[in-house]
Amino acid sequence: CGSKCKCTPKNQCGSKEANPPKMILSKFVDELPILPVLKPRWKDQFHTYYEVNMTEFRQSLHSELNDTTVWGYEGSYPGPTIEVESGEKVFIKWINNLPDKHLLPVDYTVHGAHVDVPEVRTVVHVHGASVEWESDGYPEAWFTKGFKQVGPYFRKQIYRYDNDNRACTLWYHDHALGITRLNVYAGLAGFYLIRDHRERLLNLPSGKYEVPLMIQDKTFNKDGSLYYPKQPEKPVPELETSIVPEFIGDTILVNGKVWPYLKVEPRKYRFRLLNASNTRFYRLKLDSGQLFYQIGTDGGFMQHPIGVKEITLAPAERADVIIDFTNLEGKNIIMTNDAPAPFPTGDPPDENTGTVMQFRVILPLSSVDTSVIPAYLMPLPKIKEQSASKMRYLTLNDNMDKYGREFMLLDNKQWDAPITENPKLGSTEIWYLINLTTDTHPIHLHLIDFQILDRRDFDVEKYKKEKMIHYTGPAMPPEPQERGWKDTVRANPNQVTRIIMKFGPYTGLYVWHCHILEHEDYEMMRPYIVIR
Ligand code: C2O
Ligand code: CU
Ligand code: CU
Repeated sequence: CGSKCKCTPKNQCGSKEANPPKMILSKFVDELPILPVLKPRWKDQFHTYYEVNMTEFRQSLHSELNDTTVWGYEGSYPGPTIEVESGEKVFIKWINNLPDKHLLPVDYTVHGAHVDVPEVRTVVHVHGASVEWESDGYPEAWFTKGFKQVGPYFRKQIYRYDNDNRACTLWYHDHALGITRLNVYAGLAGFYLIRDHRERLLNLPSGKYEVPLMIQDKTFNKDGSLYYPKQPEKPVPELETSIVPEFIGDTILVNGKVWPYLKVEPRKYRFRLLNASNTRFYRLKLDSGQLFYQIGTDGGFMQHPIGVKEITLAPAERADVIIDFTNLEGKNIIMTNDAPAPFPTGDPPDENTGTVMQFRVILPLSSVDTSVIPAYLMPLPKIKEQSASKMRYLTLNDNMDKYGREFMLLDNKQWDAPITENPKLGSTEIWYLINLTTDTHPIHLHLIDFQILDRRDFDVEKYKKEKMIHYTGPAMPPEPQERGWKDTVRANPNQVTRIIMKFGPYTGLYVWHCHILEHEDYEMMRPYIVIR
């Protein structure tokens, strides 16, 4: 169809009919929003209780743009940051107060996920959290406004989070089956930070010197509204429906502002970087040539900080970093992106999508910077390969249905196929992610954190014929920036990526999926069950 997507001629991905008039907005004219921290409704020594309303409202995303209608939690896009202590018992009532009609084009049916309820479905997942399954935001545990209609797995209105994670940077976002890409794109995402006592002993930059940064791409219509590719008004009989194979926006936002700037003091800052985009990957750099001192991965602190020139983030990946602006008074530093989209074989970014935000070192130092980049952070016990009781060989594959629609699957199975991944509570497994496609897929498992063992090139064509892995290169260790607790891993094309994890502490029904939201919605997601 002439755009970047790789759709077959039969697919109408919508990008040709609906190229929006481009909005060229100026860079670095708006200040970075500092996200509000959510206040509990009620708190005692045993529990903390929050209520979170999902609503539609208008918000300024750039000063040259009309206000944009977005969705958010508690009237804020991105949602307010939820900050909890490790081990704190938290209850959250997630309330759907969204309008009856979706803000974005919804297709009538999606394979395995029949979007036949007129009201907007939502369900909230805290990404990276260790949670009982009834509170994990199972994609079919959706509910509509006022809980008028609920999905087949709806369990309760008030979710329970025991927060038995170590200190880490998590995020919450919508997870409703078949429309996650639309709900998240409309604005339903926020940070969820877990803190602990050991983190406080590290003396990292904190308070106003600790800033979460949520990076997303969007495309705007001239009137300021959000653009998302359209699907046909009615299902086309022979196509049933068309799909949007991926979404790549032309504008970059951080914390809900287009190309913002942040005024900083000449001292150290801690930034929690999150890629909350639908499809786009980022390879972040500082145009001053400075290093990021990475201190954490998806699931918490690394053993030692590492100095890196660039940070790659697939959708849903996080990096906890320190940037040192000491002695840089008067300097403007731009955070840039040079990751191709789609990743890794798409077009390189242009001057717009290659720009993320700007740091202006213009504030006077308000007090001496006593924070440190500790030489040692946290112990990081390696999960031993010998402790694994099961290996699973799982393919990521292209698939074409009888209508000629192309979409990707996990282990060649759609969402509705019987559950095949059924690890035992407390057992350790190694999963071989065998990528037979040409994309990198960020594969995410709910409930647990894993460690990346290695990646290894193999012969894809031979695999397709013989169903046997023929390696063509040596096993490569994870990149330095991935040597920590992970919940999302980049599975590259032509490679087998191996991850290791111990399942627990809960039994129940969870999911694993590709975190490219268009892939996830179109069947690149599978349930899995932890059994006793
Ligand atoms: Cu970020 Cu299944 O989620
Ligand atoms: Cu998750
Ligand atoms: Cu994918």
